Amino acid sequence: MTYKIAVIGGDGIGPEVSAEALRVLEACGLDFSTKDFDLGAKRYVKDGVVLDDTDLQELKSFDAIILGAVGPAIGSTEVPPGILERGLLLKLRFELDLYINMRPFTAPANSIASGSDFVVIRENTEGTYAGEGGFLRKGTEHEVATQGSVNTRFGVERCIRFAFDLATKRSNRLTLVHKTNVLTFAGDLWQRTFNEVKQSYPQVQTDYNHVDAACIYLVTQPQNYDVIVTDNLFGDIITDLAGAVCGGIGLAASANLNAAKTGPSLFEPVHGAAHDIVGQNKANPLAAIRSVALMLDHLGESEKASKVLDSVLKVSQIVSSSSDKTFNTEEITNLVIERIS
Ligand code: IPM
Ligand code: MN
Repeated sequence: MTYKIAVIGGDGIGPEVSAEALRVLEACGLDFSTKDFDLGAKRYVKDGVVLDDTDLQELKSFDAIILGAVGPAIGSTEVPPGILERGLLLKLRFELDLYINMRPFTAPANSIASGSDFVVIRENTEGTYAGEGGFLRKGTEHEVATQGSVNTRFGVERCIRFAFDLATKRSNRLTLVHKTNVLTFAGDLWQRTFNEVKQSYPQVQTDYNHVDAACIYLVTQPQNYDVIVTDNLFGDIITDLAGAVCGGIGLAASANLNAAKTGPSLFEPVHGAAHDIVGQNKANPLAAIRSVALMLDHLGESEKASKVLDSVLKVSQIVSSSSDKTFNTEEITNLVIERIS
């Protein structure tokens, strides 16, 4: 079978790291074709298009989507905040029902979290990201802005079930992260659903951390985590922290999954477009490469997935422990490829 892969290279270093990820897919012998979609800040500035219906419908016909990074350079005012986030990234997550955001972390030996290996399962279509809210009397002294958090039993349950299933494939340990002491409605739904689903997984040892405490533990004892499940916004925040303690955001990969497989899933590094290093062969491609390992796994190509993952982990170790040599983008990918073939 020839996999049809859509590539949204995006802006800044996005196209560079995506190209490296594709090079790795070729090296591991995957049979695939690609089509580029010109989307992101550059495109928006060119003709005002963020994501039109034709592109959205066409994207649905692919087996998977690879995204590099989208966003304008820091300080640029050409793309107002929210345009690409809501109009492109979140629109893709909502329209393609990418309800799981899976973010695995493996800390290299010399990082703060050294020795830890865990996965954050972030709910990806609800919570504060759902976009509920609005303004009243905008721009006046009496302005009101609300931004609600939408939590459905269905959305919370499918996310929690996914996390329990994943825990059974790892070491049967799962931690719910929330803020049940203050978010007494949303937190209560999450906690109750967690407790109910847990009944079907007696082999899984469970724990609960408030999100603020989890921020401490991610720094002081990250080795204790195996699978974490949490809501959309908490997941966004703790995965940046997790990236920082696990060797830097240059290693952080993600899979935006339509886990029910009613359509394609989307794979992207957690990092941004990093316009300051564009075109200098400096970007670390490992997050993008680990993201396509997640893609291979999701497509059922588990042998190729583990080959790529093993190589990425070895190379992460080499790159992060080398004090005398800095590796460029191409060299890092080559190191991965050498270890695959
Ligand atoms: C991420 C990003 C996005 C998010 C933004 C760019 C919409 O920060 O993927 O973590 O908040 O989810
Ligand atoms: Mn984020």
